[in-house]
Amino acid sequence: MLFRSFLAVLAFALLYSFATAYVKAENELTAQKSHQVEKRAGYTFHCVPEWLQCTAVQVVIRILVFIVTDTGAPLETDLVISTEIESESNPGVVLWSGELTLHAGSFFESSQTIYLPGNANTLFGIIYTDPFSLILNHELLGRCGQGSGDPHMVTFDGHKFDFNGHCSYVLTQECDKDAPSFQVTADFRGRNPSTPYEPPTRMVAFNITNYGTQVIRINEDNSVLIKGKAFTTHSARIGDNEGFVSRSGSNVTIYLTQPSVSLNWNRRLHGITIGLENVDLFSNVCGMLGNADGDPNNDFVMPDGKSTSDVVEFGNSWAVGGSCP
Ligand SMILES: *[C@@H]1O[C@H](CO)[C@@H](O)[C@H](O)[C@H]1NC(C)=O
Ligand SMILES: *[C@@H]1O[C@H](CO)[C@@H](O)[C@H](O)[C@H]1NC(C)=O
Repeated sequence: MLFRSFLAVLAFALLYSFATAYVKAENELTAQKSHQVEKRAGYTFHCVPEWLQCTAVQVVIRILVFIVTDTGAPLETDLVISTEIESESNPGVVLWSGELTLHAGSFFESSQTIYLPGNANTLFGIIYTDPFSLILNHELLGRCGQGSGDPHMVTFDGHKFDFNGHCSYVLTQECDKDAPSFQVTADFRGRNPSTPYEPPTRMVAFNITNYGTQVIRINEDNSVLIKGKAFTTHSARIGDNEGFVSRSGSNVTIYLTQPSVSLNWNRRLHGITIGLENVDLFSNVCGMLGNADGDPNNDFVMPDGKSTSDVVEFGNSWAVGGSCP
């Protein structure tokens, strides 16, 4: 039941993102696959990819498929949706292919978790055939950056480095604006509670702002505030249609809709994965996770626009003013 409401809210929260990355494509594949389903009216089909993890060793993607019927009637027959995940950095390279099935009698949802081998390339796309319109869809999954453990950081373009700061740092934000459309900051603290400002350090808490307003605070005890109010349920919306938060054990998943950004915090690993799903953000973000322009060699840009090759100088430049002891 909880999972259903999770999906219903997710469906709502993510409707925006469909319009952004929607490409009609060749009829050839469509014709090939058309034996699988009968074309019927009265349904809208959605396929939502979601980043869970993108480390050097593995990439984990969850695909949610769901339909919304005009009449509210359940499915009469199984729907089989051919799906491929491809590397956008190496066009034509299929990393996973398979079928997603929505079973007869169900109202809408199905989800599948897909594991891919880790790769410095963090740009992936998904291709699937809409079972009702039979249109081939190609959506960009987005770029994924992450940091975990000590912390080991991997930028959106796949550049790896370690940084043992002990202040709060901008992981990523939209650039070139006084009030960036989004910003994620992380509090870095020492492993030993009695010496919080000594290395080795790890990420312990986060602030996420949307157009200058704090929407989410993840505290060091893993409690979550949504716009300053405690989040105590399994899942909740942010505002009217600003995003969505859910929790599973010590994992916290967050979506912002405007712009489309996903975050997955795994407290056990002290790891955060941030997916930029809005292509407008590519080349237009800055912070410790780089600029997401596809080039791993130009990621160390400081807030003043200057580049550096020194990891300490780079990391320190992204410290939030007043956050250092
Ligand atoms: C994060 O949010 C908390 C609570 O609103 C605030 O006290 C803290 O200063 C913020 N930290 C940063 C780095 O903005
Ligand atoms: C937390 O997320 C990780 C993947 O990052 C997953 O392996 C683990 O099962 C999740 N734990 C829970 C309780 O959902």
